[in-house]
Amino acid sequence: MSENNFDVVVIGSGPGGYVAAIRAAQLGLKTACVEKDPTLGGTCLNVGCIPSKALLQASEEYAHAGKALKRHGVMVENLQLDLPVMMGHKDKVVGDLTKGIAHLFDKNDISRITGLGALGAAGEVIVTDGSGAKTVLNTKSTIIATGSASASLPGIEVDEKRIVSSTGALALDQVPGHLVVIGAGYIGLEMASVWGRLGAKITVIEFLDRIVPGMDGELATNFQKMLRRQKMKFKLSTKVTGAELTENGVALTMEPVEGGAAETLEADVVLVAVGRKPYTEGLGLEQAGVKTDGGGRIEVNEHFETSTAGVYAIGDVIAGPMLAHKAEDEGVAAAEIIAGQKSHVNYDAIPGVVYTHPELASVGQTEEQLKEAGIDYNAGSFPFIANGRARAMSATDGFVKVLADAKSDRILGVHIMGADAGTIIAEAVLAIELGASAEDLARTCHAHPTLNEALKEAALDVDERAIHV
Ligand code: NAI
Repeated sequence: MSENNFDVVVIGSGPGGYVAAIRAAQLGLKTACVEKDPTLGGTCLNVGCIPSKALLQASEEYAHAGKALKRHGVMVENLQLDLPVMMGHKDKVVGDLTKGIAHLFDKNDISRITGLGALGAAGEVIVTDGSGAKTVLNTKSTIIATGSASASLPGIEVDEKRIVSSTGALALDQVPGHLVVIGAGYIGLEMASVWGRLGAKITVIEFLDRIVPGMDGELATNFQKMLRRQKMKFKLSTKVTGAELTENGVALTMEPVEGGAAETLEADVVLVAVGRKPYTEGLGLEQAGVKTDGGGRIEVNEHFETSTAGVYAIGDVIAGPMLAHKAEDEGVAAAEIIAGQKSHVNYDAIPGVVYTHPELASVGQTEEQLKEAGIDYNAGSFPFIANGRARAMSATDGFVKVLADAKSDRILGVHIMGADAGTIIAEAVLAIELGASAEDLARTCHAHPTLNEALKEAALDVDERAIHV
């Protein structure tokens, strides 16, 4: 086989792409991964999940040391923030992890090709490097895993200094006096948490009449109360109509969605976090005959194959939640299908987590979705204030809710707000994956004292027999 002949070429090295490449190589396929950026890992590792979690952790420790530790008899004097050190920690974590992927590529004999990948004639991927030189890769199968980019708002130009996307919000060189966040979704609330904990005044502007759309309504309402207690201000049902750079910051104009008087808000920094859009620029989809839907997402069949034979797509560029773990699972499935195996992704068992404090975690259907679908269900819930471990940790905010089919008792959804909700949810995801009933969860022995006991109690409460309330 010549140097440029492959069984699989993956375009994009985010969590979808690099995992697909590793799985394909494990299955004995000669694999290449094309990446336009100098580091591997895509949005998640470079400017998304990982750096945001490094800052969320560090800022939470700072806030905790400033307030909560006193309650535990731990006195901290002269607490200070060293923002450059905090940013340095974040950069090191990102650097180490992106190098880790390069190491995994070497270990699995995957060819890393730096440049912009595009579909060429059938069986070809054309890579253009920084100098404009083109290389043609011949491949039996191509996996498009090019991810997504921040969506923009008309009339608002992101300069990554005063008007920032999530990328700029992860790299501010000082704590803004007033941070205005447009969009009360995952990114908006995580970044608002980071900078709010470090001392910024926070205002969140949301178009809808609720925050975290898509999450269970009861959870969202309670979550908003928690965030208000953390001094975040919310302007719901409000649309931003313009942003003007001023001498020291940004003047934002906005008005109620239903109509009414416009107002202006002064901000030091504005974060635009109104969703993400599939990134397919320059891929040559149209010439290659790859169809997209109305929202620009690539259409695929149940085997992740596009309208062009031999071209597959996974992750944020196709339908479904734009989440790293969803992309990873699709990457594995696509590689296995290309290798001739039967593989699939269970979309009913994909967790969503917002890494604020408390965390929000959710899997399966919400009460709103069940009602709309006319499915009879029983709900059980349990507050963390009644959980011994949560009390010992002074982490009593929040609750667990289990939704189970009224007839079969099969678990249909689990929604958690609380410390470590993102870890606790894994047990609920497994339960849904295995088709467990609420009774199965309730009869499973849980170590004491752990936060997960709240999940067991909520499952017991589905049958109105929780012990500790
Ligand atoms: P999102 O879809 O979660 O939230 C965007 C919010 O902006 C929504 O509440 C929407 O109603 C609001 N919005 C839209 N247009 C608006 C406007 N003109 N004015 C005011 N509000 C407006 O999107 P987000 O937070 O930007 O995140 C993008 C993607 O990244 C999401 O799909 C998310 O799943 C993913 N992500 C996941 C994380 C995690 O797993 N923890 C962390 C960060 C991002």
